[in-house]
Amino acid sequence: MSGKETYIPLKEILSQGDNAGLSREYVDIMLQDDIPVVCVNQDTSKSRKMPFKVMYNNKTAFWQQGGGWTYSISSIDLDKVKEKLVARPGNWEKEQPKKSKPEITKQTVKDQGFGKKYDDIASMSTEQKISHLNLQKTKLNDLFVKKARDREIIAEALVESTSDAAIINHIALEEAMRLGDDEAKKQTQELVDSTHEMVKSSTYLFSEDVFSDELVNELVEKSNGTIVQHMTRVFLNGIAFLSYYNKLVSSSSAINKIRISFAAKYREYYQSLLPHIPPGNFTLERVFYKGMAAIPPDLFHKWSVGFLIHDIGKATAVEYHEGESEYNRDVVIEHVKIGYKSVMNKTNYPVEASLITGFHHEYYGDVSGYGYFRAYLEQYKKEYPDVKQEYCITYELEPILGYRALAYFPAKVLEIVDVYDSITDPNRAYREPVNQTEALALMRSEFIEKRHKIDPVIFDIYEAFIMDKIHL
Ligand SMILES: [Fe+2]
Ligand SMILES: [Fe+2]
Repeated sequence: MSGKETYIPLKEILSQGDNAGLSREYVDIMLQDDIPVVCVNQDTSKSRKMPFKVMYNNKTAFWQQGGGWTYSISSIDLDKVKEKLVARPGNWEKEQPKKSKPEITKQTVKDQGFGKKYDDIASMSTEQKISHLNLQKTKLNDLFVKKARDREIIAEALVESTSDAAIINHIALEEAMRLGDDEAKKQTQELVDSTHEMVKSSTYLFSEDVFSDELVNELVEKSNGTIVQHMTRVFLNGIAFLSYYNKLVSSSSAINKIRISFAAKYREYYQSLLPHIPPGNFTLERVFYKGMAAIPPDLFHKWSVGFLIHDIGKATAVEYHEGESEYNRDVVIEHVKIGYKSVMNKTNYPVEASLITGFHHEYYGDVSGYGYFRAYLEQYKKEYPDVKQEYCITYELEPILGYRALAYFPAKVLEIVDVYDSITDPNRAYREPVNQTEALALMRSEFIEKRHKIDPVIFDIYEAFIMDKIHL
């Protein structure tokens, strides 16, 4: 590397608009390699070096804020970043022909990204994206009004609308991360409203009654191994499950059954999560704050939005599946941080949806999990060392935000749906897919019996839901 070392402002490197995709790639590499950033105060000319990751975690588009600072990186570091970028395969290039046992190359990893439609959607104007979403919503409403039952048509409409919405949101939030919070909220408002409406229409159409093994097969067939298709399947599976859950917990005999299995099988499990609660006080109402209840429609819709955008912080060209050759846990963890920050700070999406984005890999604090809740809780415990959680799960916001509960119900639901989807995903390059019953057995042994990660009562209901649907 020859030439004099100079410093280039990050503002010039991480441009907006047309180069949004390229900027994202730069950011990914700078995060991965933790490039040093030279921060210069324009008034005092004082400078200091800070790792890119630290600055980014503090404020994502930090290079754009005013306050009399400029942020630069050295030309030598920039060359290194560029070299890495060149070494990466291009975005959304032609799809590799599928092999029965595909060799894992950088290109196949790339194809796990946001899908073939990404480029088409990215080239639309904001107005076009919004009217596209509204059109999809109208299509779903028409099918609902006509009481459509043709599963191919339903699956087609649902997959198209939800996967397009996931891509549109991903692009918009990536752009929003480069703006100040207020400006970003203004820019994303129409998108937030249209997405919320589209999600409502999907929940009306995709009730638990429509959900069937055949429809799931149809959905899987229409989806591929991309991140966005995972988000689509998780969204649809999640809302179908919530609808099943609502029906089940409205029946007092079902609740009695849950009470019996809770006392017989799971008391110890929960006791280990809240060891300070005397065994005699451990009831189902201790596990579920205020007891198990059906989810009211307004909350149902807010959570569904969270399910749809839960992995919105995932970057392209990153392998998110444990076991894949390029899996890098440190990088994977970033998706939760980026997703949470973008939804919470840059949009007016409901807080409920932001929490789902930030808390969906917590696993009751197990070491293999990650996310914002554990970080906040740790901080809170430092300030209030005597405070202890009184409940395991809450539907309401206040107990989770006030650290009175260990987990947020929709995030615990999403953990289960998310793991189930990744185990049964037929498009994984590195292993054969596992069938539904094997997946459920695997989850019980690995995530409940060996470790305390997913919630056993919710899992029992999820298992019943899947078994009902696959007509054993
Ligand atoms: Fe995730
Ligand atoms: Fe996910």
